[in-house]
Amino acid sequence: MKPQDDPFRKILVLHGPNLNMLGTREPEIYGRITLDEIDRSLGKIAKEAGSSVQSFQSNSEADLISRIQQTVGDGTDFIIINPAAFTHTSVALRDALAAVKLPFIEVHLSNIFARESFRKESYFSDLALGVVSGLGYRGYELALEYALTAR
Ligand code: DQA
Repeated sequence: MKPQDDPFRKILVLHGPNLNMLGTREPEIYGRITLDEIDRSLGKIAKEAGSSVQSFQSNSEADLISRIQQTVGDGTDFIIINPAAFTHTSVALRDALAAVKLPFIEVHLSNIFARESFRKESYFSDLALGVVSGLGYRGYELALEYALTAR
């Protein structure tokens, strides 16, 4: 257990399926920023705060689950996750987060409550510390700011 006054935080940012296509994918919904630009911005913010961010994107549910399982014993303090379409389908990804027991924030670029009805259901929100939805890429930055400063 890390001392309360140690400001260093090791944060894992997970991006689900199709988020590798940000920039060109339905830009009217998801914006024109690329995933690489988001990840670089998060890395810079964390570095300035004396912490670290590792980002991981996969289109595969299995790979996302394995990446979550890898946090056991590796010093990860916090997870920020945009499960993308798995938000609405994946009990297995939810179970992985429940198993590792790390605090996490669920992020969505779009406001999932203002879209099709199937997007209103999330398998993650009740386990999450908080949910940011509809603020575009800034949602990741706000979640990171919280992860870096919450005590
Ligand atoms: C999303 C919303 C999901 O419904 C969708 O399947 C995505 C992206 C978002 O960031 O707004 O792929 O998670």
